[in-house]
Formats: sequence, structure tokens, C-alpha cells
Amino acid sequence: MSDAAQNPSPTTEAGAIRGLHVVSLAPGADLDGFRAAVRRLIAGRIPPETVVWQSEAPSLFGIDMDRAEGAPLRLPRAVTDLIPMVVPHRDPERYGLLYALIWRVLQGERALMEVASDPLVHRLHRMRKAIGRDLHKMHAFLRFRRVPGEGAERFVAWFEPDHHILAAAAPFFVDRFRSLNWSILTPEGSAHWDGTLSFGPPGRCEDAPEGDSFEAGWRDYYENTFNPARLNLDAMRAEMPRKYWRNMPETAAIPALVRAASARAQAMIEKEPTMPVKRDPVRAVAKMAQDEPDSLEALNAVIARSEPLVPGATQAVLGEGPVGARIAFVGEQPGDQEDRQGRPFVGPAGQLLSRALEEAGIDRREAYLTNAVKHFKFTLRGKRRIHEKPTAGEVSHYRWWLDRELDFVGPRLVVALGATAVLALTGKQIPITRARGPAEFGKPFQGFITVHPSYLLRLPDEAAKDVAYRAFVDDLRRANALAA
Ligand code: URA
Repeated sequence: MSDAAQNPSPTTEAGAIRGLHVVSLAPGADLDGFRAAVRRLIAGRIPPETVVWQSEAPSLFGIDMDRAEGAPLRLPRAVTDLIPMVVPHRDPERYGLLYALIWRVLQGERALMEVASDPLVHRLHRMRKAIGRDLHKMHAFLRFRRVPGEGAERFVAWFEPDHHILAAAAPFFVDRFRSLNWSILTPEGSAHWDGTLSFGPPGRCEDAPEGDSFEAGWRDYYENTFNPARLNLDAMRAEMPRKYWRNMPETAAIPALVRAASARAQAMIEKEPTMPVKRDPVRAVAKMAQDEPDSLEALNAVIARSEPLVPGATQAVLGEGPVGARIAFVGEQPGDQEDRQGRPFVGPAGQLLSRALEEAGIDRREAYLTNAVKHFKFTLRGKRRIHEKPTAGEVSHYRWWLDRELDFVGPRLVVALGATAVLALTGKQIPITRARGPAEFGKPFQGFITVHPSYLLRLPDEAAKDVAYRAFVDDLRRANALAA
């Protein structure tokens, strides 16, 4: 008797359909159903090419998966981490592709996930990225509105994700809005929080309130953090597709801001540089502690509104990258270019860092990049603004923000680029040469210490530069592996 006959397929009648095994899962993202099916299929040694996965419609055959647990499988972490990030994808082939991967891994290709050129691995990586982007959009663009009326306060949001991500996205909102009662309505289902998280049937756009008293607050925040020098309409439309605009009160401000952007940017550039005058750090830190932002957006709004400790900078330079990034990089402070453009690591050191990241196999867009100090500090030499290293007092002034920022981003590993970043992350002055490599920062993430890319730019001769650059790329590779 064949193995499959001894261990019937998960769907008892499926074997009858010309040797195919039909697995029926719930519509949407049925992670538990998929895991249970995989255990049973593997126990039955049923190869992927004989399995038909059915999930988008009620089962043609009216067969429900038997959810009894099979024996747990021993899969590499890279595979177990991937599964929940692919199951929510809208592609009907997602379960089949995942099962094919699991099959091959269990047949002996244990390191298959590391073979980025394998077409199956490549496709699954792309699917995982699409889910990451969709989650990021939902986390960033969903807006709750207060339900009008007398009773207990309640908030409702309408959102249309591209994939089946409601269940995967909900914990983020539980974390951020734990003290509120809220519902998220989507065309496929709804999530509700009143101290307990539950899921229900689909909602309709009309079921969410039209607007509320928070709208002005969102618009203010957007107007305050909008940087005219960074306006790039194509990038903006790609990052914030129009379909989300109608749920986002702040988008009402966009047309006017866009119209005024080039004049405002020109004014920023033409502003005569002035010599900095120092503020009182004790009062500044006390003021900062009064703000208790409850999200990265709210924190960034506070940072964007803040005055530089040492005046002179055009603007605060905020961190950049997705919430939930696996790896974060902390630099020293923005330089001249960063100050003008309002983005971290866009000047010469930033460009060198980008090149090194690419060589180390790290996608800059998936990492989080920020600085220990949020404002550019300089001395004037003629009209040139010459970078000045922040003092220990200035670094400690910004530490509270950096800590909150990394709490919200939640990376697995943080790379300190240079001594100022180490000081900001540990509170200690530690020579890089002694501490280079994996490190413990006493924080809920792993640490890694390496040099700052501007150190490489300052090295006097090309041969030394080359050796130091190679060592830097090696460090980034190591850090990337640790964060994996
Ligand atoms: N150096 C830094 O530390 N950060 C930047 O953003 C640019 C240069």
C-alpha cells in the first residue's frame, strides 16, 4: 500500500479526485488551518504537486479541514517567520507555494531560504515584502473617528487593505490604542477592541463616521511636519496612494501645501546662515519630558516642532524607515545636506553608507535610519556651515527621544555608527576600536558597534580607505546576519 493510502489526505474524499488532495481553508488568511493541513500532509508524505489548495470561495466539495494537530514540524526559523507573512497575501497560489517550500526544506534543502536566486524563494520574498508594505500602509494611514453620541466613547475606522492583513495588523492598534474602544471595518471583516480583541463580519465605508474634532489636530500635525524641500509628488503618490486619502483628514491640506512648497523651499535655502547661540539644556530636557507621544508619528510631530538645542539648523531631521524594521542604524547628527533636505544620511557619508549597505545585502528602504542628535550643529566659515561634533550634554538632551523612537520602531538589532551613537545608546564614552562588533546596550534589542561612515571619508590615503571600507561592509554583513 502507498504511504498516501496508509495516511489518507487531510480531506477524506479528496483522494478520489484523480489522486489529488484538496485542502479547503477558510477564506482570507487561515494560518491555523494552513499549519494543521501542512502537518497532516507531511505526515501523509503527500507531495506538493498532488495538493490543491482552496480558500477564496466556500469549498466546492463541502469538505472542511480536520484541524486535529499532527506532529509539529522542525522547520528553520527563516521558514516559520515567513509563513505568517505570506499567508495573508491575496495570491491564490500562496498556500501551494509555501507548502512547496516546506516540502523541499524537509526533503533536505535546509538552507533553501538563503538561496535568493531560487525562483520559489524569490517569489515568496516578494510576497512577504508586499505584505510588509500593506501592513505599513495600514499602520500609517488608518484614521479612527469618534462615533457621535452620548454613550461610552467609541472610535471607528474604515480601511481597504490590498491583502488579507486585518488579523496581522490588529495587534499594532491594540498596542497603540489600548485604552480606547475601537473597531476597524474592512470589506472583508472587522476587528473590535474593548479590552478584548475580536473579529467579526465585513463592514461598509458608510458605517464609519465622517469626521470629528480630531481632524483639525491631524491637519495641524501634517502641516507642521510637512517639509517643502522634500516634496516629490511621484514618491508621495507611491507612498500614500490616493485611495487612502479620503479616510485621512490631513490630506485636505495637501493641495495648498503643494502649491506653496517651492516658494517655501526657496526661502529656506536663501535664509542667511546665522551663528548659533546656545539654549539652556536643563529647561529643554524638562520640557521634553512633558510630552508623552503614544506613537512614532506623534513623537515625530514633537521632534519636528522642537527648537534646536544649539540654534541654527533649518529643521529637525527625523528618522526614516518602516516601523517594525528588523535593523536600525543610529548615526551622530544630520550634516549640511541632511539639514537642507530634511532626511537622514543623504550627504556624502550617507551615500557611502548606502553603497556599503547594498554591498552587505541590506535594503536601505527596509532598514530604519536615524541620528542620536536631531539637529545640525555647525560653525560658520564665511558662508560655509562646518559640521561641529555634539557635546556629551547635547547627546544626552536627545537621548529620551532616541529611546522612544526605537521603542516605537522595535528593531531586533541596532547598529551604532560611531562613538556618538554609542554614547547615545549606552550613556558611556567607549572607544570604537575596543568595542567594535556585537554589543549589549541594556535595551530590548541586540546591539552592534561599528565606525561612522564619515570616518572612512576622512582617512588620508586610498589604500587605507579601501581596507577600512571592506571592514565596514563586513561589519554590516555580520550585523545583518545577527538581525535575521
Ligand atoms: N552623519 C550622520 O551621523 N547622520 C546623518 O544623517 C548624516 C551624516
